[in-house]
Amino acid sequence: MAYNIGYFVGSLATNSINRTLSKALIKLAPDTLSFTEIPIKDLPLYNSDYDADYPAEGLALKQAIEASDGLLFISPEYNRSIPGALKNAIDWGSRPWGTNSFARKPTGLVGASIGAIGTAVMQSSMRSVLSFLDAPQLNSPEVYLQFKPEDFEADGTVTNQGTADFLRHYMGEYTAFVERVLDATAAGHI
Ligand code: FNR
Repeated sequence: MAYNIGYFVGSLATNSINRTLSKALIKLAPDTLSFTEIPIKDLPLYNSDYDADYPAEGLALKQAIEASDGLLFISPEYNRSIPGALKNAIDWGSRPWGTNSFARKPTGLVGASIGAIGTAVMQSSMRSVLSFLDAPQLNSPEVYLQFKPEDFEADGTVTNQGTADFLRHYMGEYTAFVERVLDATAAGHI
């Protein structure tokens, strides 16, 4: 089966290492996956006043999530947590109450940092958020990447063989996970 994956890049920075990582993952993914970025940078800051008349940006985000077979988050860690722009997008997608667009969407979560912890603390926070949103998560393998610029080209080509193999393995496991969740959902098991 072919699957359409919506992906979020949690950084708005022009030279984001997480954007480079997103390009690498797309290059290394099985051919059965196609990818559509779900943009977050132009969303207003969410508050519940918007719920009565959801703006076009919020509706577009929700529709993009709902049109995806699976979701992939590629994000930095900011101050040991989720970057505000990404959390804001998640809040938009989760509301208005009763219309949580993330429910039952298979999700993957990866991140790159310049530090050795490799976004582990951010990912721990994200796992709580995704659990609350009823989004099944690939639990293992995990990708806590300490980004080494010499291992990546700007177009996402990974020049370090070990890193390429690791990321390719992740995307293979992610694909199998998406398939398992969608099959189980279609069969009414979850
Ligand atoms: C950081 N950085 C960072 N790194 C980390 O490992 N843990 C952290 O808690 C933080 N906190 C943090 C806060 C803020 C506001 C900034 C701007 C940066 C460093 C971070 O890993 C580095 O800037 C990455 O390059 C950010 O990823 P992108 O934006 O390049 O994808």
